[in-house]
Amino acid sequence: MARQVLLLLAALAVCSGLEIRRPALGFNTWNAFYRDINETLVQQQANLMVSLGLRDVGFEYLVLDDCWAEKERPADGRLVGNKRTFPSGMKAMGEYIKGRGLKFGIYSDAGSLTCAKYPGSLGYEKEDADTFASWGVDYLKYDNCHARRDYWILDRYAAMRDALNATGRPIVYSLCQWGVMEAHLWGPKMGHSWRTTEDIRPTWDSVLKTLDYNVGLSRFAGSDVGWLDLDMLYVGNDTGLRLGEQRAHFALWSLYKSPLMIGHDLRDFPKQSLSILLSKEVIAVNQDDLGVPGDLIWRQGHKRIYAGPLAGGARAVVLANFQFAHPTAFQQCPRTNITVFWGQIGLQPGQRARVRDLYEERDLGEFVDSFTGSVEAHNVLALRVTPLNGPLDDGWRPWHGQPAYAAQAANVAVQRYEDWVPKSAPWRCMKAGGGDTVFQQPDPAKQPGCGGKDR
Ligand code: GAL
Repeated sequence: MARQVLLLLAALAVCSGLEIRRPALGFNTWNAFYRDINETLVQQQANLMVSLGLRDVGFEYLVLDDCWAEKERPADGRLVGNKRTFPSGMKAMGEYIKGRGLKFGIYSDAGSLTCAKYPGSLGYEKEDADTFASWGVDYLKYDNCHARRDYWILDRYAAMRDALNATGRPIVYSLCQWGVMEAHLWGPKMGHSWRTTEDIRPTWDSVLKTLDYNVGLSRFAGSDVGWLDLDMLYVGNDTGLRLGEQRAHFALWSLYKSPLMIGHDLRDFPKQSLSILLSKEVIAVNQDDLGVPGDLIWRQGHKRIYAGPLAGGARAVVLANFQFAHPTAFQQCPRTNITVFWGQIGLQPGQRARVRDLYEERDLGEFVDSFTGSVEAHNVLALRVTPLNGPLDDGWRPWHGQPAYAAQAANVAVQRYEDWVPKSAPWRCMKAGGGDTVFQQPDPAKQPGCGGKDR
């Protein structure tokens, strides 16, 4: 038995020697251009990341999403860039990006084809990882389309993880499995970030839905294991979200410590949206040294409070007014007051704290016991609350003292008994051990029920 546990743990060795102490920030081509990408366009975006000041506030990865490759994998098995749209080749593309002081990201898929039906990496993990390393790739977004049901998702993702590790090149491994199979349970063993939801859309409903899917997940992520990926940003897309909604979207993605990937054409970027992306103090919450994601800590009707701890004992707090969107409701009730009490964010009664507005970069004053902010509909107040006296405690977590979101290790451990999992499903074999959850490779000899002998 001991040998079996050791084997399992070895198979799940945490992703690569590459430590990602902070979520990745950058630009991804998909939401801006979908299938229509080419060398000139990517060069322009790289130049704009620099000239608009985005690189200087931390957006460093430029990720080419789907549709960069030739439609057919060449006979020697080695992927090549699309000869028509990327005539200089992918290595040259990467060199151009790096020449601007940025990092080079690329996309592939853990199936036989990508979602847009370009060659996927299933069965070619080693070849593709070697190719990416030889092109100087720094970041791989790895999608989940076109895989047969009997190819177990953990095996497919582990195969690329191991191939990337074997290249010896530090490559951020970003899992794009749309949150399936409770990725927060296995993502930490597998990659540097894992998607928690289906694709985001440029609508307020989609932003809310994404946030709601993530409630309670912050405890599974952090600088020691990796990051919840709430999907790319729709900041800048002035057709979909109002400005206040974009501010809410960016502040909360930052608080959850999601990777922040810009998804709007930089050639045509509305000024006010750009100023959201350049909000250094909001980004600082995302990149904070403590590396603990925030979460929802209170909700009543349309009022919500999200919060998380920061290095040194301060708290990031987002007061959110998510009133329903009917235009009359907006007119009749354009703002509401929301109060955060120190007890809700693990500060002491009587403690004096400075409250700062992170978007405005302005101190709002010193407060004892609580702070009340007036928040516009579909907008947020993004705050930093810094205690000025008393204990400076960065051990508080969003789930402490909140019964609805409290840690429930027991529930994690018993998932293998859940009724909806068919008897023959390989993940029936999930095993819980020592507070951690580990997984067993599916073994047909043991099906159904995984009750076979130890190997
Ligand atoms: C989806 C993925 C998107 C984008 C697209 C490309 O599966 O979630 O972010 O990468 O595929 O085809």
